[in-house]
Amino acid sequence: MLDKENNFDPNFANANPCDPNELKRLTTQILNPEKELKDLIPQAIALRDLFEKLTNFRADTGQDIGAGQTRLDSGLAISPALAAMCIRELFRTLAFIRGLHEAINDAAKTRCPVRVLYAGCGPYALLALPLMTVLPRERVVFTLLDIHQECLDKASALIASFGLGHYVEECICTDATRYQIPKEKLPHVIVSETMAVALHNEPQVSIARHLLKQAPTALMVPQSVSVEVCLINWSREHVLMPADFVGEFPEPDRDRIYLGKIFELDAANIQNWEGIEGDTLPAGKVKIPSSLERKYKPCLLTNITVYGQHRLQNYDCSLTLPQRLRGKIEAGDELQFYYQLGNNPQLVLET
Ligand SMILES: C[S@@+](CC[C@H](N)C(=O)[O-])C[C@H]1O[C@@H](n2cnc3c(N)ncnc32)[C@H](O)[C@@H]1O
Repeated sequence: MLDKENNFDPNFANANPCDPNELKRLTTQILNPEKELKDLIPQAIALRDLFEKLTNFRADTGQDIGAGQTRLDSGLAISPALAAMCIRELFRTLAFIRGLHEAINDAAKTRCPVRVLYAGCGPYALLALPLMTVLPRERVVFTLLDIHQECLDKASALIASFGLGHYVEECICTDATRYQIPKEKLPHVIVSETMAVALHNEPQVSIARHLLKQAPTALMVPQSVSVEVCLINWSREHVLMPADFVGEFPEPDRDRIYLGKIFELDAANIQNWEGIEGDTLPAGKVKIPSSLERKYKPCLLTNITVYGQHRLQNYDCSLTLPQRLRGKIEAGDELQFYYQLGNNPQLVLET
């Protein structure tokens, strides 16, 4: 039976336990360093199908998949159904699982077991659960945290259905921007994917600042999220191919002018912002060239270093899609930005 309100089968925990070896097989393939993200699409689809089948997840037309979201004073915590649908962002999911694995292994060089705080685990604990099948319990332990109890219940049930509950030290239902980490439980790795493109609307910045302040030596996943301004000639952004084309798509010959990075969320900047109490953070300035052809449009580009070499580039997922900068912007203008914290966080262009 499907729970119409929240898209999940409330009894899935009672379904036949899943064979952890199947998940281990998939995870081992996902972590294969010889493979690029594009080679791993079948594995990402298999992971999606497995978790959606086990939880009986469906996104029916006519259903409000946004129901159950929470507007926090640090941004939007998306609904459990939308959080579940993040698994459908295949490159994002692959890159984060691979990056988190590498961060845990780096932390394990000096600590055992590695304590991972997963802030915003969603209903699958998607970035952590596959890793439980390939890392020994003596090496890693997870704390799952989410603002929505429904996510924690579902993630715990899914983990238990694989017989992996002993990897979870604690499940905490709270706002990650308010969570006081007990001194004896400081994490060695903090993972949180609570963002939208250009660090807009969701609370990633506030969560990373609040948690890293308490555990300054923890490795952060993502390691860096940066936003740059770029002038894009959209007519050269994509290659259009006939619908019946078979074979490798040619790379587009893009026509862009990069103007510079205006914001970066990483450990160094979080430390630099430490004294800042107000509701804005500093961001950069760029200058539009004084003679500019009309074909170029100013845009924001988001670049994500998940960890180490694990990166998400433009168009890899919704988080890295180029965004048009709106407003009246003329050749020769200086564009000064700041980051607005609060319930609708975003980069703002000063007027
Ligand atoms: C984008 S989803 C990601 C889900 C999952 N981690 C994944 O990668 O597929 C973000 C999750 O973070 C939770 N969340 C957002 N802001 C939060 C906050 N301030 N404190 C705790 N949880 C939060 C949401 O409820 C949601 O489950």
